[in-house]
Amino acid sequence: MLTDAVIAAPLTGFAADVRAGLTKAGQKELPSKYLYDALGSKLFEAICELPEYGLTRADARLLQGHAHEIASQVSGDVLVCELGSGSGRKTRWILEAMARRRHIRYFPIEISAEALAVCQRELADIESVGIVGLEREYLDGLLEVAARRSEGQRLVVLFLGSTIGNFSDPADANFLRDIRRILQAGDVLVLGTDLVKPVVQLVDAYDDPLGITAAFNLNLLARINRELDANFVLSQFEHEARFNSATQSVEMHLRSLRTQTAGISKAHLTVSFEAGETIWTENCHKYSPAEVRQKTKTAGFDLQAQWIDDDWLFAESLLVADVE
Ligand code: AVJ
Repeated sequence: MLTDAVIAAPLTGFAADVRAGLTKAGQKELPSKYLYDALGSKLFEAICELPEYGLTRADARLLQGHAHEIASQVSGDVLVCELGSGSGRKTRWILEAMARRRHIRYFPIEISAEALAVCQRELADIESVGIVGLEREYLDGLLEVAARRSEGQRLVVLFLGSTIGNFSDPADANFLRDIRRILQAGDVLVLGTDLVKPVVQLVDAYDDPLGITAAFNLNLLARINRELDANFVLSQFEHEARFNSATQSVEMHLRSLRTQTAGISKAHLTVSFEAGETIWTENCHKYSPAEVRQKTKTAGFDLQAQWIDDDWLFAESLLVADVE
C-alpha cells in the first residue's frame, strides 16, 4: 500500500539551529556565529572603524606593541592557527615577528569564506609565512592543524578580539578546556579579552549612532530570509544593546515592535512574537584580569604575561598549556 505521507529529511546546520533557537521556551535566541555571512562580516569590519567601538583598536595596539615579546616565547618550529581570523589585519605583527626567526605556517580558521579570502589576500605578502586557510568551525579546524603537527613542532593558537566573550559562562571555560585537550604541554594560546568598563561606554560601543551595529544585528533576520525562505519584516524589529550586570555582559537583542508571525519555510516553522518580545542574538561578556587568570588556569593554562590597554580596557594574555 502506498501513501503520500513523507517524513521530511532532518534539518541540519543553519535551519536546525534557527528552529531550535526560535522554538525555545522562554527567551528566544539565535547563535551569534550566524551574524557573519558575507554581508555580516563586512558590517563587522565597519563596526571596527567606529569611534565608539574601541575594542579592535585596543587589541591591535597590544598585539603591535608586544609582538616581539610574544614571538620570543616560542622557540623552534611553529604552526600558528587563529580561531576566527576575520580579515587577519591584526595578526600581521605577530606573524612578522615570528617569521623573522624562521619560516612559519599560518592557518586561519574561519566559517566565513569571504573573510577567509580577505585574510589570505591581506597577509599574502609577508615573507616566510605559508598560509593555509581552513573554512571550518573552530575546534574542527584546530584538530586538523594539530593532526598536521610533526614531532617537535609547537602550536600557537590565537583567539583574539574577545570572541571568547560570546560564550556565556561556563561555556567559555569549557571551550578553553576543549582547546587545551587538543594541545600539548608547552603550546601557546594568545587570548584577547575585553574588560569591564563603565556601562555607558559599553552600551555606546554596541549601539552606535550611525546604526552600523543595528544593521549588523538585523542582517541576521535578513540572512534567514535569504537562505531559509523566510518572511521577516525587518522594519518591524529593532536593535537593542543592554548591559546585564548579573553576567557582566552586553547583550544584543532584536525586539519585535508588534505582535506578528514570521514563516521560515526551510526550518518548517511559523514563529509568533508578542509586541516587545526579543530574540537574543549575541552575548559579549566583559572580563576582569583576575577572571581571565582563574578561568584559563582551571582550563589548564599558565598565564605567562598579560598586557592591558589603558585607553580602552582590554587584555592580551599569553598562556602556556600546563603539564597537568
Ligand atoms: C567579534 C564577538 C568580539 O562581541 O564585541 C561587535 C562582535 N557585536 N559589535 C563583540 C560585535 C557587536 C564582537 N566580537
